[in-house]
Amino acid sequence: MCGIVGYIGHRDAFPIVIKGLQRLEYRGYDSAGIALFDGNTINLSKTKGKVEDLKKKSKEISMAGTLGIGHTRWATHGVPNDVNSHPHYSNSGDLVIIHNGIIENYESIKQALQNRGYTFKSDTDTEVLINLIEEVQKTEGVKLGKAVQIALNQVVGAYAIAVFDKKKPDEIVVAKLGSPLAIGVGEDEFFIASDASPFIEFTNNAVYLEDEEMAIVRLGKEIKLRKIKNDAVAYPNILELQMNLEEIEKGGYDHFMLKEIYEQPRAIMDTYRGRLLADQGIIRMAGIDQNIEKFVNANRIIIVACGTSWHAGLVAEYIFEDLARIPVEVEYASEFRYRNPVITDKDVLIAISQSGETADTLAAIKLAKEKGAFVFGVCNVVGSSIARESDAGAYTHAGPEIGVASTKAFTTQITVLTLIALKLAKEKGEFSGSKFHEYLTELETIPAKVEKALKSNGLVETVAEVYKDSTNCLYLGRGYNFPVALEGALKLKEISYIHAEGYPAAEMKHGPIALIDEQMPVFVIATKKGHYEKVVSNIQEIKSRKGKIIAIVTEGDVQVKELADHVIEIPETLESLTPLLTTIPLQLLSYHIAVMRNCNVDQPRNLAKSVTVE
Ligand code: AGP
Repeated sequence: MCGIVGYIGHRDAFPIVIKGLQRLEYRGYDSAGIALFDGNTINLSKTKGKVEDLKKKSKEISMAGTLGIGHTRWATHGVPNDVNSHPHYSNSGDLVIIHNGIIENYESIKQALQNRGYTFKSDTDTEVLINLIEEVQKTEGVKLGKAVQIALNQVVGAYAIAVFDKKKPDEIVVAKLGSPLAIGVGEDEFFIASDASPFIEFTNNAVYLEDEEMAIVRLGKEIKLRKIKNDAVAYPNILELQMNLEEIEKGGYDHFMLKEIYEQPRAIMDTYRGRLLADQGIIRMAGIDQNIEKFVNANRIIIVACGTSWHAGLVAEYIFEDLARIPVEVEYASEFRYRNPVITDKDVLIAISQSGETADTLAAIKLAKEKGAFVFGVCNVVGSSIARESDAGAYTHAGPEIGVASTKAFTTQITVLTLIALKLAKEKGEFSGSKFHEYLTELETIPAKVEKALKSNGLVETVAEVYKDSTNCLYLGRGYNFPVALEGALKLKEISYIHAEGYPAAEMKHGPIALIDEQMPVFVIATKKGHYEKVVSNIQEIKSRKGKIIAIVTEGDVQVKELADHVIEIPETLESLTPLLTTIPLQLLSYHIAVMRNCNVDQPRNLAKSVTVE
């Protein structure tokens, strides 16, 4: 949603905060700002646009100071412009704040403050919050930390904030509810950020605030952690992070998205490493092993997610029902949380989220837990809110995914879910030993098969050249590959801004076929395993109406080659594992079309990597 960065220590804050904002720009990039404090003067610069624009504009101010906070915004309240950008001053000019989240009751608070003479320059909820803190400080005669705590007990909403007071130059106060906030703990310095990427080159030690926690980060002191509601002392749990800088940088690729597409063989291997023990014929997953009865005896599995993660959930529905014979329903988290669903303590809810911070998915978990369901989280970000809110879980170990368009998150989510389904199928006796072993050994071949599928990149690029100026596209798939058709359409939409729809191939006859003409490219997944003959019939229906057909086929296919305008081959595998391969050319296709259309591949317009508000 937004990215926040802060620093207090012995170094110049400016370069640290600016580079940190660049690493968090995937979270939002409508505007950016920085405030530095040199002990006497607060130097603040902010602007509509990207961090690069902020760097240029910051030349107008002194960049001195060993205390600094910065913000890169995805606009919620107030259009993206200079005045609505963060940081925001309080009326006195003594306090400065950055905020990721939404204060839902800001209008009533703003009215009350205006009645007391406060004025506002921006349309933001954040400027209201900093003036509420100032009003509390004045009327209660308390220091910044206590003022923040009292003020936050008056607000409704979500926040990750960092605040400093020019009267107290050796501390920053932070607080969290609903939006992520990590504190990097250095030798004699502290870092604050929405995730660890801004400070990982300085320290691997991090404290992730829990919801309704606040901290006073003071130089030369231990972090003081408090519960906002009752002022109870909380104890910082310092995690030693495994992430490293190389994983965060582009590594020679033009875009993070391309790097992450090519990281998939290694990412999938990392996902099953230590879990898939084919030679011993076992799958070891602590979160499942310790709760196996809940899964085996579940009435059903409810999967909640958003976007690409929801597509991974749809693939999981096929896998779980086909292999483990457990009833599954897949829900958009945003719909599930509001439709008053029937949930019992015999339900298992699996929440899938790359960021682990998606507000709708987090809310769905909380609803399910209130009603007694067992919640299992599948996340990529260690220590994320969804990971911590879940009763148990499994990380995808894909490594940081910086490109807004999810790629390796999708394939590693499917890998985790496949491992779970296979484990449950074995546990329930749905699988013979030999069939189980067949799946385990085939899963081990997938990284090499993804590597081979990536070799179609040159061919995909030529196909992209042909269709880059299309205004509409259709994606079709059946069975396990219907969700892949949806995912392929989403990838194209979100980074190239071409309208695209995914459909079950058989649904063409129920309306969409009216769209088919020579202007309509149709991307069809027609692998040997998975209703092949039926899909071939669908292709013929399209061809007879002059539609352009680009087919993803199993290597060696002859029949579809005769019918399609272009075919892109992928290696053969088991039907339930085909999504791990069929998605590869569709990821590459959307990438190349977006580049050819001069779109911002890693930071598409209007999007953010993690939607931490409703
Ligand atoms: C997918 O390419 C998008 N970035 C988006 O749909 C994303 O999958 C969705 O916002 C869910 O994010 P999450 O996995 O972090 O919860």
